[in-house]
Amino acid sequence: MFDGRRIPGYGAEVTRTLRSAVAGTGGIAGFHAASLDRLGRAEIVAATDVDAGRLAAFGEKWSVPRLYPDLDALLAAESPDLLHLCTPPGLHAPQAIAALSRGISVLCEKPPVVSLAELDAVAGAAEAGGGQFATVFQHRFGSGATTLRGLVGDPRLGRPTVAVCHTLWFRPDAYFAVPWRGGFDIEGGGPTMGHGIHQFDLLLSILGEWAEVVAVAARQAKPTETEDLSCAVVTFASGAVATVVNSVVSPREASYLRFDFEHATVELDHVYGYGDDDWTVTAAPGHEDAVAGAWAAGPTGVRSGHDAQLAAVLDALDAGMPPPVPLAEARRTVELIAAIYASAFTGRRVARGELGPESPFYHRMDGTGAPWTTRP
Ligand SMILES: NC(=O)c1ccc[n+]([C@@H]2O[C@H](COP(=O)([O-])OP(=O)(O)OC[C@H]3O[C@@H](n4cnc5c(N)ncnc54)[C@H](O)[C@@H]3O)[C@@H](O)[C@H]2O)c1
Repeated sequence: MFDGRRIPGYGAEVTRTLRSAVAGTGGIAGFHAASLDRLGRAEIVAATDVDAGRLAAFGEKWSVPRLYPDLDALLAAESPDLLHLCTPPGLHAPQAIAALSRGISVLCEKPPVVSLAELDAVAGAAEAGGGQFATVFQHRFGSGATTLRGLVGDPRLGRPTVAVCHTLWFRPDAYFAVPWRGGFDIEGGGPTMGHGIHQFDLLLSILGEWAEVVAVAARQAKPTETEDLSCAVVTFASGAVATVVNSVVSPREASYLRFDFEHATVELDHVYGYGDDDWTVTAAPGHEDAVAGAWAAGPTGVRSGHDAQLAAVLDALDAGMPPPVPLAEARRTVELIAAIYASAFTGRRVARGELGPESPFYHRMDGTGAPWTTRP
């Protein structure tokens, strides 16, 4: 039951208790439940999973009153304010459409869909049913990212020129033994779709509209149908250029973003989540005071993570506003993923807006097919 708790710095004053339901009670669902518990602003009234044992354990741990063997049964009996979709990626679109067409809002784990076609179908269902669809991109919500977003366009930093966005992670071979991992059908792709997405969604949330991409993808070492590495060069509408590397073959893991503006370099160095101390700001000669003043005026104290995003989602629902991250912004990120695959698999530059229903890369991330034929 709602007891009025709030974590200082996270979220606005509470006006009502929201009713949440959870689909998929595996690893990440525990993060949602723990955040809801810490925030104390929503109660989980129902949950579903096809794995009865996992569902029962989740229900017991988080005191969920009603458990269902499948989503249809849950949706037939319940009308929650928010459905948390924590199932494998290939299920997100059909399950979101089932909820949205009943007018139920959805908070969906990344990646929101496994193709642009699915994303547009989800948007159609949201519009027709009246529910909202938001994607979990929790690294947008730390105070460092909020500060930097607020400074884009500020003359004290100047125009962005070059950026680096590297997700250099490592996954042991056993990671790919989980049935939904390692294939374009259910996971939608490799580290471009499932891992680097966190970092380059943050990059896009700061640098805005991308215009063109040229990319390479490779399968270097892992027992997977997808790439285990992609490297892209992304040009933005502003003229800024970013390198984007997405890897699961990098033993010393790092998530590194660097933004060079005319008058300052802003860097973020972390792995799976950051606080204020993970950001470094370096001014160009002669701009020290202005840059330090600009950065110091930003918000502080909020770590990136599910607590921060769920607080923002609950605030929005409370206020009758679209919860973050909305579909239009998720589409920009998913379109970049499709363009990275299209460029890597066809060997050409891909422009924003080029991948419509006539392109195979609109319907499947592997479009015309990955260039590799054998497993490593
Ligand atoms: N935001 C993040 O940092 C983050 C981290 C990890 C995973 N994720 C995402 O969360 C999602 C789930 O990942 P996970 O690691 O929790 O996977 P998981 O395999 O641990 O959990 C998925 C659960 O969904 C259940 N499931 C499968 N089919 C179902 C169905 N038809 N109806 C209901 N439940 C069903 C499975 O039984 C399982 O319990 C993925 O999209 C993944 O990319 C996000």
